[in-house]
Amino acid sequence: MMKMAPILQSVLMCFVLAAKAQDITLTSFDILYELNEIKSLFELKETIEQTLKKQSDEMVQLKARVQELEETNEAMKNALEETTMKIQEQENHIKLLQSSVTEPTSQKRGKDIAFSASLQSSGLGNIGPYNSEIGLVYKKVLTNIGKAYNSETGIFTAPLKGVYYFRFYAHAKPGTKMAVSLYRNDSKVSSIFSWKPVTNGNASNGVVLILNSGDQVCTRLWGNAWVYDDDNNYTSFSGFLLFPL
Ligand SMILES: *[C@@H]1O[C@H](CO)[C@@H](O)[C@H](O)[C@H]1NC(C)=O
Ligand SMILES: *[C@@H]1O[C@H](CO)[C@@H](O)[C@H](O)[C@H]1NC(C)=O
Ligand SMILES: *[C@@H]1O[C@H](CO)[C@@H](O)[C@H](O)[C@H]1NC(C)=O
Repeated sequence: MMKMAPILQSVLMCFVLAAKAQDITLTSFDILYELNEIKSLFELKETIEQTLKKQSDEMVQLKARVQELEETNEAMKNALEETTMKIQEQENHIKLLQSSVTEPTSQKRGKDIAFSASLQSSGLGNIGPYNSEIGLVYKKVLTNIGKAYNSETGIFTAPLKGVYYFRFYAHAKPGTKMAVSLYRNDSKVSSIFSWKPVTNGNASNGVVLILNSGDQVCTRLWGNAWVYDDDNNYTSFSGFLLFPL
């Protein structure tokens, strides 16, 4: 538009000079017509220039907006990458924790040890009295996971080093004393005792033992003592591995 002003002036001057030089009345119409044409063309050009300018401004704004969006996008990408990395780290951490938790458990699998047995395989009756101590053989197996208890000998043999819990319970009729001890190999660990109960006697004891693989645990009836059992499974011997060592 700025550039156009001097050109327009020149053009006008040419027309004015031409008008002076020739028949004014006849050509002045043409000149006015041409001038109007040029004016409207000039206005059209101005309008187009304004539109272009407006579009160009909008373009600049859009570019700035795109730039802004690209920056935001970049920032979000970085944040996402960071989060993904953190998640990965967490997952690795969880895996590590899981492996430390599940591995010992899975190692223990197949080493689950628990048993319960009662004295009489069937029927009812007393065991004892004998002159001296005898091992009690609990013949009726209620549970024997891991098969560490032998119902032929009454002996539990630790299949692995660990902490074990044992419990024994005895029931007896009146008449003579009831006395039973729990042994680890040849060492007495704990006992129950009832001196000639008037009606009948019940007693129980339980121990936690640290056993090495191969250590044996059993109960023994004292000399001149008895225990009784029937279908109620009164007199029993139980044990289980608390945890391996
Ligand atoms: C011993 O236990 C049996 C069975 O539970 C019961 O019938 C009996 O009365 C108990 N004996 C004593 C002296 O409490
Ligand atoms: C217990 O007896 C078993 C079998 O004889 C043996 O392997 C083990 O070493 C003994 N344990 C102790 C503490 O004496
Ligand atoms: C005694 O143990 C046997 C074998 O597990 C079982 O079938 C029975 O019901 C038990 N008796 C009582 C009175 O619990």
